Parts: sequence; structure tokens; C-alpha cells
Amino acid sequence: MTPDIKPIVAGNWKMNGSCGSESMVRELVAGFDQQLQGKLDMAIFPPAILMALVASWTKGSAIAVGTQDCHANESGAHTGDTAAEMIASADGTMVLTGHSERRVDHNESDADVAAKSEAAWRAGLVSVICIGELEAQRRSGETLDVLGKQLAGSVPGGATSANTIVAYEPVWAIGTGLVPEASDVEEAHAFIRKTLVERFGDEGAKMRILYGGSVKPGNAGELMAINNVDGALVGGASLKSADFLGICEAYRTMA
Ligand code: PGA
Repeated sequence: MTPDIKPIVAGNWKMNGSCGSESMVRELVAGFDQQLQGKLDMAIFPPAILMALVASWTKGSAIAVGTQDCHANESGAHTGDTAAEMIASADGTMVLTGHSERRVDHNESDADVAAKSEAAWRAGLVSVICIGELEAQRRSGETLDVLGKQLAGSVPGGATSANTIVAYEPVWAIGTGLVPEASDVEEAHAFIRKTLVERFGDEGAKMRILYGGSVKPGNAGELMAINNVDGALVGGASLKSADFLGICEAYRTMA
């Protein structure tokens, strides 16, 4: 946690869910009660084709929705892509940029991620910019170098605490059940905070920095209590309402 920063727990459905996911989403709406809303924000990132439907199910609740990617351009001949403006027009308010699976599956570079993040801002969306080291980079002691390069290349100069959230996701921890030592999470988040403050001053001090990678109800309390961890980006455990709410519950008793 960071004093005076309201955390956010975000669910990345990846390529999961369907038009039949309504009851699961309604359980989230019901479970995200006033007390929890006072402690944290919640967002869900379904596949683009489902986002408008999910937004209709969450309408009137405190749950934000967004997509897992956007194109840098506003419109045009880009078959299969989704513009940030379309996300906004479908009641989305956020978008993930630079998730490691996009960086690997679609060869997205830091420059691509920066362009997508600026597109998100152009449409009035919050960009959740994802960074994280590979297992080999962690083993060879390059983690902070990698994070520094990704932050420099992926987070554009116009970032503010209102339009940007940074998600630290060690790639080797995603979907594996492996979680870094608390001290390693603390070190990475402290480094990210320092880098953001150097670059963005007060705005960098207020920006939310999420941890992602095998967050579950059983480890959320410990992870979310670490300095400069301002919430979670959750994959697998966001697909069941009980698990996702179980992660949010870690905040109920936190000061
Ligand atoms: P995981 O995924 O929670 O299944 O590890 C996290 C993510 O990729 O955002």
C-alpha cells in the first residue's frame, strides 16, 4: 500500500468468458459492497467483443470496465483491431497496454505500448501500462534494468496519476502459481516508484502501481500490504467471482 493512494483490483479475463458470463459479473456487482468500495476500486477487462455487454451488466455499479488492448489510431484500415474511441463509446473507461502476452504474441515493442497508451488518453481512457521481466532476466540480475527500460519506453511523457496505472507483472509469475519473495516485490515497486517520481514528480508519487502474477485469495493479503503495491492485476483468479472477491476482501480489514 501507499498512504493516500486508493488501490484498485483489476481482473484480466484474457481470452475467456462469453455472452453467458452475466451471473458471474452480477455476483461481483453484488459482492462489491459499500464498505469495499470505500477501500478500493475494481475493474474488469473482458475480451473486446464482450466489453459492451459486460458494461451493461455493471451499469450503475462502482465497477469499471475496459479492454485488454487498443490500436494507436482512431479509425482506419486495421482489420481486427479496436480503437480507444470505440472502447469509450461502449462505456469502457480503461485499457490494458503492453501486457506481456501482447508483447510476446504480437511482437509489441515499448514504442507500440507508448503509442497505444497515448491513444487511450486521447479517448479519455485510463491506460494500465504493464511491465515485467522474463525469468532469465530475473536469474541474471537484470530485473531493475529491464523495468527501467520498459518504463522509459512504454510510459509516455503525458502520464498523470489520473490517466495512468503501472502494473508490474514478472512474466515468470503469470499463470504459473509462482510468486516472487515479498522482498523482491518490494524492491521492484520501490524502484518503479522512484523512477516515476523522478520523471513525473508529484504525479509519479500518486500513480498507482499494481502487482500481477498468480495473485490468489490466499496470498493477496501479504502482497497487497507491501509498500508501494497499490492493488493487483489478476488473471486466472478473476474468472470466478468468489476468487476475485476473495482477493478484494484482503482490503476489508486493512487500515
Ligand atoms: P495470473 O495472470 O493472475 O493468471 O497469473 C495475471 C495477468 O496476466 O495479468
